[in-house]
Amino acid sequence: MASSQQTLTGTLFIFSLLTISYAATDPSKLPPNTKIHFPIRKNLTTLQYYISFDPVFPTFVDAVIDLGAQYVWFDCTSYVSSTYKRASCGSNRCKNALGSVCVGCNSAPRPGCSNNTCGVFAYNPYTEYLTAQELGEDTISVSSTDGYSVLADYEVPKFQFSCAGSEIVQGLPGDHTKGLVGLARTPVSLLSQISSAFNLAKKFALCIPSSSENGLGDLFIGGGPYFMPPSGDQSSSLVRTPLITNPVSTGPVSSEGDASDEYFIGVKDIEINGKRVAFDSSLLSFDKNGVGGTKISTVTPYTTLHSVIYKRVVKDFVKAAAALKIKRVKSVAPFGACFDSKTAPKTVTGPGVPDIDLVMEGNMVLVRLRLSGSNSMVEVKKDVICLAFVDGGAEPRTSIVLGGHQLEDRLIEVDLTTSILGFTQSLLLSNTSCSHYRLF
Ligand SMILES: *[C@@H]1O[C@H](CO)[C@@H](O)[C@H](O)[C@H]1NC(C)=O
Ligand SMILES: *[C@@H]1O[C@H](CO)[C@@H](O)[C@H](O)[C@H]1NC(C)=O
Ligand SMILES: *[C@@H]1O[C@H](CO)[C@@H](O)[C@H](O)[C@H]1NC(C)=O
Repeated sequence: MASSQQTLTGTLFIFSLLTISYAATDPSKLPPNTKIHFPIRKNLTTLQYYISFDPVFPTFVDAVIDLGAQYVWFDCTSYVSSTYKRASCGSNRCKNALGSVCVGCNSAPRPGCSNNTCGVFAYNPYTEYLTAQELGEDTISVSSTDGYSVLADYEVPKFQFSCAGSEIVQGLPGDHTKGLVGLARTPVSLLSQISSAFNLAKKFALCIPSSSENGLGDLFIGGGPYFMPPSGDQSSSLVRTPLITNPVSTGPVSSEGDASDEYFIGVKDIEINGKRVAFDSSLLSFDKNGVGGTKISTVTPYTTLHSVIYKRVVKDFVKAAAALKIKRVKSVAPFGACFDSKTAPKTVTGPGVPDIDLVMEGNMVLVRLRLSGSNSMVEVKKDVICLAFVDGGAEPRTSIVLGGHQLEDRLIEVDLTTSILGFTQSLLLSNTSCSHYRLF
């Protein structure tokens, strides 16, 4: 296993050099049945997931993936590009951009600053910093895939983003992460822009890795098949549930009456080892202010639960774990239930703890998104594993925010045409994961 991975790493390296030489292919010529692919990395310190933009975009930059973000933005402070264009205040492009405003500037013109600037919002979810910055466009480079291998590089001209100042990158990992890509339901998201540039179906799929030390995860734009090396195509394992519309916006930028552009799902119940967790189920629907419900998020590292739900989940989980003779130990903040990992059996899906199921409406049947040990537990120190959920307080905007740790190592597909979320159970059950190398 280890040696075959090493071989793949070698292949990856050699062919990376080759792909650079045939970059710059015309987007209108994407061959049939090919889609767009970005590898996903995880920073194990900050628990953020990010993709890279390779050479054509001024220099290579990394950008954090945010399922709930409305825009794409980059730190433009040291941006030098001959193909960069700013949108002027009166232009149609500016008028069509979500929440645009006209702003001035008092230094010499540069990307991000002119006296006739069409400002669009850039929001950093980690620092909650919101700013209006220049709407700019440039050419970016992306890679195509047949779902199995990475095939060729293509340029996407006129890719739009908010060209922000350096204060916005606080809280992003490493030295190269200079931006954020929004995948929310907006006309300027990464999904919308890439799918319209290549005339692809308005859908994307994520396979977010628990670590990128032994391979990378995937962001596919345009649909499957979704081959997960060394196993096969996982498309047929997708279980589907409708995406629910929250009638009240949850984003930082909205006009009155706008629905939320984040992805909500209709969780009806939580079960622990098949037993329903009892709590006030009205927390799982929206009130008139759009408070409540369940959304998915790649910028929330661990699922947060409304206090009422959190307390019941912890209580029932502790009870079910005790029945399996898993020994509870002192809690480690921010987690509320920790255990001696030596007392939990080892399984292919991590520690053998009680399963947590999120029960949702499927197509005429109920479907369950199962959180087994690898998705429900986190190792906080040697021999100590904790239930990887966080108390979201008594008045959270959204009752359940399903976070990155719980979404890892499974395929998640968002289809905006049908408004359906597809998900697989843990890929660890199929002898694969979201950490792999693709052939070039
Ligand atoms: C923008 O306008 C301000 C105020 O009129 C002026 O001081 C500044 O020089 C102008 N900047 C540019 C880049 O033209
Ligand atoms: C992860 O983020 C931390 C904090 O910003 C940074 O120091 C580290 O270099 C990053 N790791 C990688 C592999 O980029
Ligand atoms: C996974 O691999 C194990 C050992 O290599 C094997 O016994 C098992 O049948 C495989 N399972 C699947 C679903 O391929």
